[in-house]
Amino acid sequence: MASTIGTATSRIDGRAKVTGLAKYAGDFNVPNLAFGAVVTSTMTKGRIVRIDASRALAVQGVLDVLTHDNRPKMGSADKDYHDDVAPEGGSPFRPLYDDRVRFNGQPVALVLAEDWETARFAATLVGIQYESESFATDLHARLEQVRTIDKPEKPRGDAAKALGRAAARHEAEYFIPAEYHNPMELFGATVVFDGGGKLTIYDKTQGVQNVQRYVCGVFGLKPDDVRVMSPFVGGAFGSGLRPQYQVVLATLGALKLKRPVRLVLTRDQMYGLSYRPATIERIALGANAGGRLDAVSYQAIAMTSQYEDFSRNDAGWAELLYTSANARYAHKLARLDVATPGDMRAPGAATGVYALECAMDELAVALKLDPLELRLRCYSDRDQASGLPYSSKQLRECYRQGAEAFGWAKRSPAPRAMRDGSELVGWGMATGVWEALQMPFSTRIVLTANGHAEVSSAASDIGTGTYTIVAQVAADMLGVPIDNVTVKLADSSLPTAQVEGGSWTAASVAHAIVNAADDIRKELLSVAQTMPGSPLKGLKPGEVVLADGAIAAGHDKRRAVAVAEIMRHGKLERIEKERSSDFKDDDRHARNTHSAIFAEVKIDEELGVIRVTRMVNAVAAGRIINTKTAASQVSGSVVGGIGMALHEEALTDHAFGRIMNANIAEYHVPVNADVQDINVIFVDEPDSVINPMGIKGVGEIGIVGVAAAIANAVYHATGKRVRDLPITLDKLDR
Ligand code: MOS
Repeated sequence: MASTIGTATSRIDGRAKVTGLAKYAGDFNVPNLAFGAVVTSTMTKGRIVRIDASRALAVQGVLDVLTHDNRPKMGSADKDYHDDVAPEGGSPFRPLYDDRVRFNGQPVALVLAEDWETARFAATLVGIQYESESFATDLHARLEQVRTIDKPEKPRGDAAKALGRAAARHEAEYFIPAEYHNPMELFGATVVFDGGGKLTIYDKTQGVQNVQRYVCGVFGLKPDDVRVMSPFVGGAFGSGLRPQYQVVLATLGALKLKRPVRLVLTRDQMYGLSYRPATIERIALGANAGGRLDAVSYQAIAMTSQYEDFSRNDAGWAELLYTSANARYAHKLARLDVATPGDMRAPGAATGVYALECAMDELAVALKLDPLELRLRCYSDRDQASGLPYSSKQLRECYRQGAEAFGWAKRSPAPRAMRDGSELVGWGMATGVWEALQMPFSTRIVLTANGHAEVSSAASDIGTGTYTIVAQVAADMLGVPIDNVTVKLADSSLPTAQVEGGSWTAASVAHAIVNAADDIRKELLSVAQTMPGSPLKGLKPGEVVLADGAIAAGHDKRRAVAVAEIMRHGKLERIEKERSSDFKDDDRHARNTHSAIFAEVKIDEELGVIRVTRMVNAVAAGRIINTKTAASQVSGSVVGGIGMALHEEALTDHAFGRIMNANIAEYHVPVNADVQDINVIFVDEPDSVINPMGIKGVGEIGIVGVAAAIANAVYHATGKRVRDLPITLDKLDR
């Protein structure tokens, strides 16, 4: 039986997904289901003076209208609303809590009805009188009031002085607008009131146990009384890391009506939740005459809400990535009258590395150096911030293989030097970097005498392929065919798991499977050694392997006993083991994934229309469990990067504090016609330090650097540098 790890195994849940068998949060049908619809604030800041629900209540089929005035009791303290992914500073948002309006699009009433159409119609009839206060939603208008957070860890040397003496210098400001995740699946929850206070909740989330704890806190319930499931998630990109308000409101409705309630948000209401914060990135780079970096100065200014301090690491990458004797960074926050931003697609890095990698390109131009050559001259085998060596770093190989696959050597260095008919051709490149994170995850494996294994964990599969890699790792560790493995995920009653985020799930869950499978192997060995004439006598657990339905000596596969025989001998019907990933923070190594991205754009010289015709993303991310799902992760992330570079931007009318394009017709994302040739390469990167299988995780690494590579290609094609995203044709024309 061949190993499945490292192969292009198709998704084990693929059939369920394409045939419609897979159920999402809003698909669970139960008898007596009532439906909710949310009324959201049309003004930005102030208080609700009066809510008139009489017209809504008069509609036949309407069951109730809940507001802060008449809702059932909910927690009031910050701690009641605790969630694992909440920012450290501030107070979490509490839906329908009081008469305060903190942002445009805030939920202010919940209409409950016998069916969805009635609920939605009645929601339009709820009259709300507001008292409005002055507000600010524009980051650029609040720069005088910013606050510095994340004090520089350890500024290296004296960046200001080094900049002063630099032979070549580049200093500029880059801008990334607010972006929305826009997953296909809308936020939704189906809350089943089981009687006796027990709730079963199907919620769209990246972390069922996080939602379970949160709901228990908000409603003062016991963990045993709340079960949260999210077996399938139609994309989230970070928006489902924190519990969102639909789960609170659906639960509120179910508790009030004492019957099941479903609440699915509308697409425009998705813009009242989490998003990537607009961020200004100010960077200065200085190089010496040899074309090596000597000074890095980085300052990020990002927006947050008035009630929470959300921030991610935009600024730190510049200090870490390249060799430079002098470096400093700072991160500042500006409070605006908006909903709290959140994690989105490599938060911090997608934005921070965008600016860094554009700046490196501009520095290369100033030095008259090939941009790839500049990266190689500044290459570092140590994390420059901590000084630690990497557990593994094959970035050099990413550059080499990526450049070769792309044909980088054939690039003419001067801008506007390459053409294809009426189109200017531009080639740009960038580096990507992300953290190789791990979290404590647990799994339970039940191996039955018929050679079947069930593997379970509360971990989520947000479309990333977790079901499949769990089955692969378990199949290989237990020596059974992958078809004999059943995987259960995303149920809060299963063994402990953190949210699926940060690209940490594969490494964490695989580690736990390895541990649980180790325990199973130990137990099988000890039973096998009691069998008369056992060929395994005297062997230690580390000296045997599970393969082909048997346990065998690692060095001599002929010394083997079938697992079925062992279980029969031991009168075992099943062996059940639950273990956690005993990941220990190793403070002797830096742990990161890396990538090299190469982009080709073709730009119509007359019209300025930009097409991304080719991308190569060469990724070093440790061992790849599934080359098919991992490549899908990376190419999907590249599409996200194309969106970031050329399309995505939430446009707010700052006179009203309201997003003008809260829909997926006017909030542009790449469509099929925008996505052409994407070549994903996984560079071999053995890592014996990071965890037993050498897994680092993919997903987020796929987007980091992509927007910079495209922006750099646009410069190369046109000679025009656009620093604020997205690069639209009007900006090329300026
Ligand atoms: Mo990711 S932005 O941690 O879901």
